[in-house]
Amino acid sequence: MTPQIRVLKTILEIQTRIGELGTEISRDYQEKDLVLIGILKGSIFFLTDLSHQIRAPLAIEFMRLSSYDGEIASSGVVQIISDITQTIENKDVLIVEDIIDTGRTAHFLIEYLKTKKPTSIKICSLLYKPSRNIIPVHIHYLGFEIPDVFVVGYGMDYRGRYRNLPFIGTLAGVSRDKSV
Ligand code: IMP
Ligand code: MG
Repeated sequence: MTPQIRVLKTILEIQTRIGELGTEISRDYQEKDLVLIGILKGSIFFLTDLSHQIRAPLAIEFMRLSSYDGEIASSGVVQIISDITQTIENKDVLIVEDIIDTGRTAHFLIEYLKTKKPTSIKICSLLYKPSRNIIPVHIHYLGFEIPDVFVVGYGMDYRGRYRNLPFIGTLAGVSRDKSV
């Protein structure tokens, strides 16, 4: 049976918001040495479209992470599958995420990247689910707050599928699945 997908944010709404975020980021990073770190795979379309809207010199790096829920739901552990390949020492890092849910991934990333001695680390996330947050993280640039629904599309998946949908949709009747 094909699951029912409802549109939560249209591509027009997404692009409009990304334009606004791009303007803010361009202004804030004019005199900086910006490195966007995209978290694979969910952030690929967001990072692509966002970078087109930034009028400031920048470099792009990627990390791939995996997060597993332990036996007890609250013991999520994040692992690095693939790391950045260039130094970020004395650079201004902007982590680009698809969605911040419990906050574990973002918290882990900040603590990990701090050890590489960048000048600054900020977070830009397309989505945030406040109702699910466990570890509070400051999201400096946020696309949209959303309710506690499972979303797919525009890079985000359910069991590896739906990343290609050109909108953000909600998947009805889905039990939570931690794929990053
Ligand atoms: P956190 O560590 O709980 O904040 O989880 C963040 C990661 O979980 C995101 O980067 C997503 O990859 C994944 N995730 C959380 N909620 C959703 C969702 O509703 N749809 C798809 N992926 C999600
Ligand atoms: Mg992710």
